[in-house]
Amino acid sequence: MPKITIQDFLKKKTEKKKITMLTAYDYPFAQIVDEAGLDGILVGDSLGMVVQGLENTLPVTMDEMIYHTKMVSRAVKNALVIGDMPFMSYQASIEDAVRNAGRFIKEAGASAVKLEGGAEVAEHIKAMTRSDIPVMAHIGLTPQSIHRMGGYKVQGKTEEAQKKLIEEAHVAEDAGAFALLLEAIPIDLAKKITKELAIPTIGIGAGPFCDGQVLVLHDVIGLFERFTPKFVKRYANLKAETLKAIKSYKEDVENSAFPSEKQSFK
Ligand code: KIV
Repeated sequence: MPKITIQDFLKKKTEKKKITMLTAYDYPFAQIVDEAGLDGILVGDSLGMVVQGLENTLPVTMDEMIYHTKMVSRAVKNALVIGDMPFMSYQASIEDAVRNAGRFIKEAGASAVKLEGGAEVAEHIKAMTRSDIPVMAHIGLTPQSIHRMGGYKVQGKTEEAQKKLIEEAHVAEDAGAFALLLEAIPIDLAKKITKELAIPTIGIGAGPFCDGQVLVLHDVIGLFERFTPKFVKRYANLKAETLKAIKSYKEDVENSAFPSEKQSFK
């Protein structure tokens, strides 16, 4: 199977085929997600919470994102690898945005980047795409804005907020974004945006009418317990499975059942 490109994302939208994405942050999980045949892997700054054990995504650094994206890129044969630009890697200036986005491509082997925001980052998106860096924009609930938003809250609930989000979506598309991530917004709003845009929308907590879906891998496989957003569907409980395996190992060692002759040398 050839490597998936941003053109394939667009083609799927025109052919009305769903785009499948998950996050991954390291070699073994990226290999599994890729082997499962997903279209895209987002190396999300959510790694701050689900891998690093932080309270939120804000402290995640560019160097950490590069470290994780390198591991993912090394594992992936087909999926489009998208590096997530962490807090303060693009907000301060357009130059920061281009330079840091370039690091994802040049150093970490990503094929695209994602950044949070719509209208306020339009000039950044333009400059990045001018530098041949494909950009996915991200509107709705943007976790890097938790302090302004007052927490992880559903966005676009009022008519005014909906109008603003529709405008933002168009601005992101006009600026050159190849796709738009919609997080935690009402179903009908996501449906309207998806219909109005030529670029694909990828939803997370945005209902079934988006062109594609993404979730945080550790939520899907039951490896993150601190909280589970309403929009998550858990498909496995790896925490319980892993705990069981580790407890069995401990018991075996304590009872001298491991190692046996089978695991020993003569
Ligand atoms: O960081 C992340 O994982 C994200 C999610 C919304 C997919 O941005």
